[in-house]
Amino acid sequence: MLNEIKEVKAQIDAKIKEIENAAQLDEMRHEFLVKKGKIQSLFDRMREVPKEEKPILGKELNILRKFAESKYEEMKAALDSKDEEIPDIDLTISGRRHSTGSIHPVRQTIREMVDIFEKMGFSLAEGPDMEDGFHNFDALNFPPDHPARDMQDTFFIKDNREIVLRTHTSPVQIRLMQNQKPPIRSIMPGRVYRNEAIDSTHLAEFHQIEGLYIDKNVTFSELKATMMVLAKELYGDNLRYRFRPSFFPFTEPSAEMDIMIPGTDKWMEVAGCGMVHPNVLKAGGIDPEEYLGYAFGFGIERVTMLKTGVRDIRLFVENDIRMLQQF
Ligand code: DAH
Repeated sequence: MLNEIKEVKAQIDAKIKEIENAAQLDEMRHEFLVKKGKIQSLFDRMREVPKEEKPILGKELNILRKFAESKYEEMKAALDSKDEEIPDIDLTISGRRHSTGSIHPVRQTIREMVDIFEKMGFSLAEGPDMEDGFHNFDALNFPPDHPARDMQDTFFIKDNREIVLRTHTSPVQIRLMQNQKPPIRSIMPGRVYRNEAIDSTHLAEFHQIEGLYIDKNVTFSELKATMMVLAKELYGDNLRYRFRPSFFPFTEPSAEMDIMIPGTDKWMEVAGCGMVHPNVLKAGGIDPEEYLGYAFGFGIERVTMLKTGVRDIRLFVENDIRMLQQF
């Protein structure tokens, strides 16, 4: 019987090594540890063994039972802690919805216009938002007493009245002429600032895209064609547009482009333009006897209003998510 005890111990050892889950552990318990298990049946057979052998066999059987129980407990603890490492994940729960942002309608217009102008051969340029009076006014042929310099229209820097928040993107034209030799064919998008009463068509801070083309033999009809192509690309062939004569100190002759507001018979002014004034070429270091140029400046919020049907320019800066979500 001592041999049988050894044999059962070897079985337990082998079995324990194979156990990987609770079901297998339970099988092991049934095989060895329950009332009808192998260990108990050995105890049952103690009745048959000679008296002298009982103490030693009883001792060995008890050792065997303790061994089996401790192996069982050890394995159970190991399996339990393994269970805890696996988090409870319910794969059937539906996911959380993350709301993604969108590109602001004004920014979308800038991208679209830049794309269209790049296809027409314009390169992209930028200038500073804080300008000096020379670039914002003097070089653009504003007379010294021009009302635009007035506190009414211009934001000045408190400690230095020579510096202004640019009132238009036209000063970037001067910077290009100073830094580049003709031919120049560039667009200059950016933010501009005016000390203006805010209403449904005016903001104190808005965006423009300036354009400048300087070369020999530049014509006004090329200017019109360029602006017309841009408008048709933006609004489709059905748009109605017109050019009106106008005045700007930096162009001669000058014009404004109007586009008809869809579904109405009203015009909206979207751009100023003209042939670059000889004084402006000179201020930029370019000989007006040798070169000609055209220039234009679009108001981007207005272009966007026509594209989107938004009728109040203030909606673009209110950051109302219900409005922005529509674009
Ligand atoms: N700078 C003008 C404005 O802010 C717009 C403009 C008009 C730009 C004519 C030009 C231009 O380049 O030629 O109102």
